Amino acid sequence: MKTTKRTKSRSDLDGADIILGVTGSIAAYKGVALAREFVSAGASVTVVMTENAGRFVTPLSFQTVTRSAVITSLWAAVDSYDAEHVALAKKADCVVVAPATANIIAKMACGIADDALSCLLMTVKCPVLLAPAMNTGMFLSPAVQRNIKTLLDSGVNFVGPAEGRLADGSVGVGRMSDVVEIVAATRRLFQ
Ligand SMILES: Cc1cc2nc3c(=O)[nH]c(=O)nc-3n(C[C@H](O)[C@H](O)[C@H](O)COP(=O)(O)O)c2cc1C
Repeated sequence: MKTTKRTKSRSDLDGADIILGVTGSIAAYKGVALAREFVSAGASVTVVMTENAGRFVTPLSFQTVTRSAVITSLWAAVDSYDAEHVALAKKADCVVVAPATANIIAKMACGIADDALSCLLMTVKCPVLLAPAMNTGMFLSPAVQRNIKTLLDSGVNFVGPAEGRLADGSVGVGRMSDVVEIVAATRRLFQ
């Protein structure tokens, strides 16, 4: 039987170790569909949720589609010498945060590490992709625009947000990109 050596540089996601960060946006439920797409593409997916993400979608949904434990706290029991966020950071091929709130964008831009996801994002050396989702006013605010520029300058990748109807019924920019676009942007990280 022919065996193929897996490399860290791949344009398909088969065999990739993807960390999916999920934050407290109304779009958090779409993260479940995204996790399922990554798994279907052959990736191994570990979900790291913020406490506020848990107000919108349960860890059980992610655990079911990824068939892996979901990380919701910095303080969970560790089964290795490294803290979990450090161990995860070492093996990750990329981190995708979808949806990415204004809050996590600000924490990344300012270097705040006060939960499992923000600690992980500060630790990883692999490519990071953010899919922002927020109300138009939030997205266009000087603070968010400044933070996005800071992160772009630091080499963080973005997909979206898109224009369209938002959760509050208004139409504008701020919708999280569709799952298919986030998957395509993730593939581009490996090219
Ligand atoms: C119903 C509801 C919907 C929200 N949707 C968003 C959103 O789409 N984007 C966003 O940036 N914040 C949103 N927020 C605010 C965030 O939940 C809040 O800033 C929170 O602190 C984010 O925490 P996290 O980034 O740690 O998950 C929403 C809040 C509520 C109550």
